[in-house]
Amino acid sequence: MDLTDRPRRLRRDGVRELVRETRLSPADLVAPVFVDATTDERVPIPSMPGHERVPVEDAVERVETVLDAGVDAVILFGIPAEKDAEGSRAWAPDGVVQRAMRAVTAETDALVIGDVCLCEYTDHGHCGVLEDGARTAPRLTVDNDATLERLGRVAVSQADAGAQVVAPSGMMDGMVGAIRTALDDAGHDDVAIMSYAAKYASAFYGPFRDAADGAPAFGDRRHYQQDPANAREALREVALDVEQGADVIMVKPALPYLDVVRRVRERVDRPVAAYNVSGEYAMLHAAADRGWLDLEATALESLTSIKRAGADVIVTYFAETVAPLLR
Ligand code: PBG
Repeated sequence: MDLTDRPRRLRRDGVRELVRETRLSPADLVAPVFVDATTDERVPIPSMPGHERVPVEDAVERVETVLDAGVDAVILFGIPAEKDAEGSRAWAPDGVVQRAMRAVTAETDALVIGDVCLCEYTDHGHCGVLEDGARTAPRLTVDNDATLERLGRVAVSQADAGAQVVAPSGMMDGMVGAIRTALDDAGHDDVAIMSYAAKYASAFYGPFRDAADGAPAFGDRRHYQQDPANAREALREVALDVEQGADVIMVKPALPYLDVVRRVRERVDRPVAAYNVSGEYAMLHAAADRGWLDLEATALESLTSIKRAGADVIVTYFAETVAPLLR
């Protein structure tokens, strides 16, 4: 046998590092942080080991821990003290997220991203205001256009509170354009939009819904989030968001949708983000707890794969775990 081409030459110690194609860096990572107005103590999230909901008073300290781990960016989620049909606490200047943002942006150097959605703030748990009668009629759903104006208010309230990036996650048609206009009209033309452009109706969000108390009280999100079976449709969503002014394009979840990450990367010239969601985190922890998987190794391999698929930015609950390993 004549073996002239021997790829193993490049896998020897020393050489392997030199020819590595993908390098994961703490600078790629965004750490989610949950701020909770219903508690004055930190509350651990059982299905997301290592994560907790923190009271507003602890937001700065929580973010400082993230920064100390070597992660510079956080995305803030809020759990309000009260919910209503409209989700009005989502845009209150003294809302839980707005208060946390003010403190964190005043007292730390973290890059602060705000998740812009209504599901944690509405009493029905959907990502927008409902069409009349939707509570009893399964074919009715979220009123898209009535929701847009509210999303604009949420984004502006977060920008007013210091957010440098807003991340609309509600999958409403036209949300990016509506938010861009609202931000610009309010003088926030320097605030960027990282759009959850291709967000799937995924069962992998389960633990997050415990964490943020945002499960729909009835029905599900299939009327607005994407069908997991569709990849071409994601490209259409992405094109619309780029047209409307999205600065960063996100795909969510990440691991089960790496083909989508890759296709989006090839299609657009904007930065691509991927959200390594709560279920992707929980399943590695559950297996590691049983001694079935090595947590750090599988987390690093997962995140490296997401980057290899084409993501420039990775939102992940593993940020604090892996960043120290990457330094
Ligand atoms: C809000 C939102 C969700 C997540 C991020 N923003 C929940 C949902 O759509 O049900 C999920 C994050 C995760 O699972 O880690 N719309």
